[in-house]
Amino acid sequence: MNLVVVGIQWGDEGKGKIIDVLADRVDILVRYQGGNNAGHTVVANGREFVFHLIPSGLLHRGKIGLIGNGVVVDPEALLKEMAQLRARGVNVRRAVKISDQAHVIMPYHKRLDLAEEGSRPGRIGTTGRGIGPCYVDKAARSGIRIAELCHPERFAEKLRRNVKDKNRLLQVLYREQPFDYQDLLTRYRAYGKQLAPHVVNSARFLFEAMAKGRRILFEGAQGTMLDVDFGTYPYVTSSNASAGGVCTGAGVPPTAVDRILGVVKAYTTRVGEGPLPTEFPPALMARIRRKGQEFGATTGRPRRCGWFDAVVARQAVRLNGCHAVAVTKLDVLDDMPEIKICVAYRWKGTRLTEVPADTGLLLECQPVYETVPGWRSDTGEVGRFEDLPAAARRYLRRLAHLMGVPICLVSTGLQREQAFTTDHWDLFREGRERRRRPRAAPRLPAGRRGASA
Ligand code: IMP
Repeated sequence: MNLVVVGIQWGDEGKGKIIDVLADRVDILVRYQGGNNAGHTVVANGREFVFHLIPSGLLHRGKIGLIGNGVVVDPEALLKEMAQLRARGVNVRRAVKISDQAHVIMPYHKRLDLAEEGSRPGRIGTTGRGIGPCYVDKAARSGIRIAELCHPERFAEKLRRNVKDKNRLLQVLYREQPFDYQDLLTRYRAYGKQLAPHVVNSARFLFEAMAKGRRILFEGAQGTMLDVDFGTYPYVTSSNASAGGVCTGAGVPPTAVDRILGVVKAYTTRVGEGPLPTEFPPALMARIRRKGQEFGATTGRPRRCGWFDAVVARQAVRLNGCHAVAVTKLDVLDDMPEIKICVAYRWKGTRLTEVPADTGLLLECQPVYETVPGWRSDTGEVGRFEDLPAAARRYLRRLAHLMGVPICLVSTGLQREQAFTTDHWDLFREGRERRRRPRAAPRLPAGRRGASA
């Protein structure tokens, strides 16, 4: 069974922990978008691991982690992460594969990311990792791909052109220092050499793996509301974080996906700027942030926190086609006397039940709340849905109803053990999917290869 795990809020839903629970039942873990702007935190045996680029399930023995073509790769960051994994006993040489079609983040992308942020009238609050500018080059068809990074001559040629253009941009528009071509060439050629043994044709790699019956988990980074198309544009990241990104970001057909698991926090958070209609007032914000340890895994920035937004969650569940959702961090709400759920927005007297495409309008919306009683007891040790306090069960049932999807897993703490499944977990058990194996690629008749366009 091939699974997608996708965030259905603004990222940081706790996907790392859910992937960690699921990793045992798959063979290959794939990242399909984003870059080292992501941060998946996993706590195993009392130790915390933060993954930025490498699929987070790699802490499990014998797994392969593939960085898909839809990811933008900072070679320096990747090599550092690989070294950390090696130090923890993972056979990195075998375990980490990188698509030859993934784009490379260069230092000028990072510099441009910061310069553009500084000059924007309304900041986005990017992570400053060069993600946006790298995707810009991809779309502009001037980017450098991993295959070229690993080819010394072609890399030299492409880099020369890029450094010339970017230096002009940096100096003239942003009054920044230029980059030294020779220095970049030497450093990045060395990275290319180090990464080369990991490079694969990822679409082919996954096709062959599926033909052998290998099971794949596609790890979404960020969340649906940060999706460049469906998120709160322009306060989004530059890739398709929703499940739709799997096919184009990993090189698999839509028929390769059997199940989609959404991950949602029992409340809402976001890092960076942009609308967050249910944002808490300052005192409650400080309290939840402290209890939930709501600080960005990548930048350490404090996350903005708010009540559960069912308008956002329902829309994201629908868009991703989630078969079920995992609700995380329920324990953070343990001592709330009452809890609010946003069921709609109000805009100048009009009730809205969809997230409007006009983000300016969303910024003017007021949340319409339903208030439910809290449970005021510790859920950290609970091992079954039936053993949750009645008010917590009611809260979760209400969320499931509003989202229109069953809840298959509830997480009540950072530790691996602090999570329990419900009957709906069965949806993700082997044998419940349609039988599907890719057929061998059709052969073209002789003389018909190479069509013209
Ligand atoms: P960028 O992806 O660095 O361009 O940042 C664009 C927006 O996405 C900013 O608001 C970031 O804070 C947000 N963002 C990017 N990655 C993550 C993530 O992994 N979790 C939460 N927010 C993120």
